[in-house]
Amino acid sequence: MIKSMKEHVKQQYSKVVEQADGCCSAACCGEGFNQDYSALSGYYAQADYGLGCGLPTESARIRRGQTVLDLGSGAGNDCFVASAEVGAEGKVYGLDFTEQMTLKARHNAAQLGLSNVEFITGDIEDIPLPAASVDVVISNCVLNLVPDKARVFAQIRRVLAVGGHMSIADVVTVGEAPAALRGDAGFFASCIAGAMPKGDYLQTIAGAGLVDIEIQKERQLDLPQSLRAAYLPSDDFQIYSITVFARKAA
Ligand SMILES: C[S@@+](CC[C@H](N)C(=O)[O-])C[C@H]1O[C@@H](n2cnc3c(N)ncnc32)[C@H](O)[C@@H]1O
Repeated sequence: MIKSMKEHVKQQYSKVVEQADGCCSAACCGEGFNQDYSALSGYYAQADYGLGCGLPTESARIRRGQTVLDLGSGAGNDCFVASAEVGAEGKVYGLDFTEQMTLKARHNAAQLGLSNVEFITGDIEDIPLPAASVDVVISNCVLNLVPDKARVFAQIRRVLAVGGHMSIADVVTVGEAPAALRGDAGFFASCIAGAMPKGDYLQTIAGAGLVDIEIQKERQLDLPQSLRAAYLPSDDFQIYSITVFARKAA
């Protein structure tokens, strides 16, 4: 079941790259959730498929010379902004399990002539980087798609250097999800059905041993009219984009 869900996610994001005309379709996770990146230093329009739900680099307190890891980096949208922030003496890793995304991201990096960014194909539930090798972990609208979020936060703690931190934008829920949504195998549904209740999300971060947990930004998300009746039938169930900070203590 979990494997087939991941294969489904990979297939959908491969299609986003193949179509290469912005967001995949009205059923795309992220449609209507994303924010305007274009004013950010390092922004590269070819990497922006409109798939994010926040601006994690804005809150991530990235400094020159640091090593940054972007989980679910897509075509490199946040990595290129982080690359401008860390400068030539820093390093940015982008990790994504959809090969077409990492190929596209590498192509984008080559077009930009960047040597401080590296894209890796792999699963964020099993981050292929050594322990304590990263100063800042960022991510934009990805963990809602991942079955085992506790495992991802444990992996984040493992790769962070002591004192390092994460700033992650993600979708969370508030209220009881409608039964129709839970039974819907569609891709859009998987973004929301896969999203955790906000309180559980924060507890899962704490359970991984991360500290100083803080919601840096919070924004209620709305859906296009065509999807609202099916996915947000009442005010009792809402979805939010949150950007969460947490640190690895000494
Ligand atoms: C909504 S898109 C966001 C992409 C990018 N962060 C952005 O804002 O443009 C989700 C991305 O996460 C990737 N992804 C989903 N689950 C993943 C996993 N378990 N491991 C690695 N990447 C994953 C997908 O391949 C896709 O590129």
